[in-house]
Amino acid sequence: MTKNLLYYGDNLDVLREYIKDETIDLVYLDPPFKSNRDYNLISPEQTGSRSAARIKAFKDTWRWDRAAEAAHQEVVESGPGRVSQVMQGFRTFLGESDIMAYLAMMAPRLIELLRVLKSSGSIYLHCDPTASHYLKMLMDAVFGPQRFLNEIVWCYRQGGRSNRFFGRKHDTILWYSKGDKWVFNPDADSVRIKYHGTGGYQTSGKGVTHRRSGKTYRPDARGKVAEDWWDIPALPPMSKQRLGYPTQKPEALIERIIEAGSNEGDTILDPFCGCGTTIAVAQKLNRLWVGIDNTHLAVALMKHRLKDTFGENASYKVIGEPVSLSDAEGLAEKDKHQFRWWALGLVGASPVEQKKETDKGIDGRLYFNDEGKGGKTKQVIFSVKAGQTGAGDIRKLRNVIEREKAEIGVYICLQKPIQSKTTEAINAGFYKSPLRKEPFPRLQVLTIKDLLGGKQIDCPAYGQAKVTPLKTIGAGCNGYGRIRKLSLHSEVI
Ligand SMILES: C[S@@+](CC[C@H](N)C(=O)[O-])C[C@H]1O[C@@H](n2cnc3c(N)ncnc32)[C@H](O)[C@@H]1O
Repeated sequence: MTKNLLYYGDNLDVLREYIKDETIDLVYLDPPFKSNRDYNLISPEQTGSRSAARIKAFKDTWRWDRAAEAAHQEVVESGPGRVSQVMQGFRTFLGESDIMAYLAMMAPRLIELLRVLKSSGSIYLHCDPTASHYLKMLMDAVFGPQRFLNEIVWCYRQGGRSNRFFGRKHDTILWYSKGDKWVFNPDADSVRIKYHGTGGYQTSGKGVTHRRSGKTYRPDARGKVAEDWWDIPALPPMSKQRLGYPTQKPEALIERIIEAGSNEGDTILDPFCGCGTTIAVAQKLNRLWVGIDNTHLAVALMKHRLKDTFGENASYKVIGEPVSLSDAEGLAEKDKHQFRWWALGLVGASPVEQKKETDKGIDGRLYFNDEGKGGKTKQVIFSVKAGQTGAGDIRKLRNVIEREKAEIGVYICLQKPIQSKTTEAINAGFYKSPLRKEPFPRLQVLTIKDLLGGKQIDCPAYGQAKVTPLKTIGAGCNGYGRIRKLSLHSEVI
C-alpha cells in the first residue's frame, strides 16, 4: 500500500482536512516570495526555429482585499497568542499593504505546518530578501525563537545583474525545529563539502595547508560539514533537470535538505510543490512524501516527472482531481484553463498557450522519437474541448495536423462527437512508425469518459519511445525577481 500522496488543492484546505497532527518528519516549503510577477511555463517549439511558447503557471501578486482581511482576522482572533501579537504588530507597521496580504496568507499555513510536524520534526522555509525578515519574525512567533536553527543562505550565480546595486544572488532558507530534538545527519554525503584547495587553504599529498600560518593537517576524507551558506548552482537554462516550470529548484539543494533533516522511511511534506522537485528527491532517497499544489498544471507535471524518472516504481495516490465525468464537467464549468491542463495531464501532454498565430488550434503537445538515437523528434498535437464539439472542430484539428506536419493529432472532448465527426477522423489517414507493424491513426478522438476509463492515446510514445513532456529553452534562473515581470495573489491564475 502506498503512503505517497499528491494533492490538488489549496494547501490550507488540504492541511486542515487531510493531514493529521504529528505525522510529518520534515517540511520543505518554497511558497511564492512576494515577487510581484507572473510566472510562465516555457514550452519549446522542438524545431528551435520559433520563440518559446509561454503559459501562465502561477501568480505571485498580492493585494489587500476581503480575503486577506478575513485571513488576518482569523489569525488575530483564533491563532496562538504570539502569532496574533506579531500579526497585529505587522498590521500597525505595514497597514493594508500587499506585503501584509502576503503575510496574512502565510500565517495560517505556518500554524498548520507546526501542527502536522512530529515533535522530532523540522521545517525549512525557502524565501528571499523580499520578505525573509518578516517571515523570520513570523516563524519565531509560530515555532518559538528558541526553535530557530539556521538561516541558510543559498548562493548562486545565474540570472541577471544590476548596475544600480550589488547583484542579488541569494535566497534564504529558514530552518526551525518543532521541539528540542531534531534530525541532523552531518555524515550524509550531500551535507559534506570536499576540500578543493581554494580560499585560504592549499591541498597536497601531506594534507591541507593553511596558506598564511603554514600549518598542515590531515583533513577528514569525507570533507567538512557544510556551513550555513551553500554554493549550489541554480539550474542552468539547458539543464537536463529542467521541466520548464518557473522557480524550479535544483535537486542538489533539496537533496542536502532531505538528507540532512530526515532518515530513510520518514515522511516529507511540500505544501507548495510546483513541478515536484521535493517529491522526486524524496522518492529517490527512499522517503515517503506528501505533495500539494493548487494548479492542475503542476500536478500534471509532477505525474510526468515521477513517471519519467521512476517508471512504475513510484507508487502514489492523487487526491483532489476529477475522478468522474460529473467532476470533470464541474471543473470545465468553473475554470477552462484548469480543465485543459487536467485533461492534458491525463495523456501526458504539455500545455501550449495560444498566443501566436502558429499555435492556433493547439492546446498541448507531446514529442516522441521512434527512430532511436539521432532520430527525428516527432509530435502529437492536442486540442481539448470543454464545451460542445462543434461541426468544424475536428476538421480544424485535421487542418492543424497538416499545417504543423504533426504525426498524430488528438481531440479530447467532454461529450462524444456525433458519428459524422468521427468519420472525419477516419479519413485523416495513418502514421506509420518503425516501432510497430500496424499504423497509428493520424487523428484520434478521445472523450474524458474514455480517459477516465483508462484508455490512452495510440502513439509510439507510450512505452516505446522516450517522451519529452517539457523542456526549457531561453534564459532562466531559479526564479523570483529576475526573469520576467511578476505579481502575487492568494488565488492562482
Ligand atoms: C515557487 S513554486 C514551487 C517550486 C518548487 N519548489 C519546484 O522546485 O518546482 C510555488 C508553487 O506553489 C503553488 N501554490 C501557490 N499557492 C498555493 C496554495 N495556496 N496551495 C497550494 N499550492 C500553491 C504554485 O502553484 C506553485 O506551483
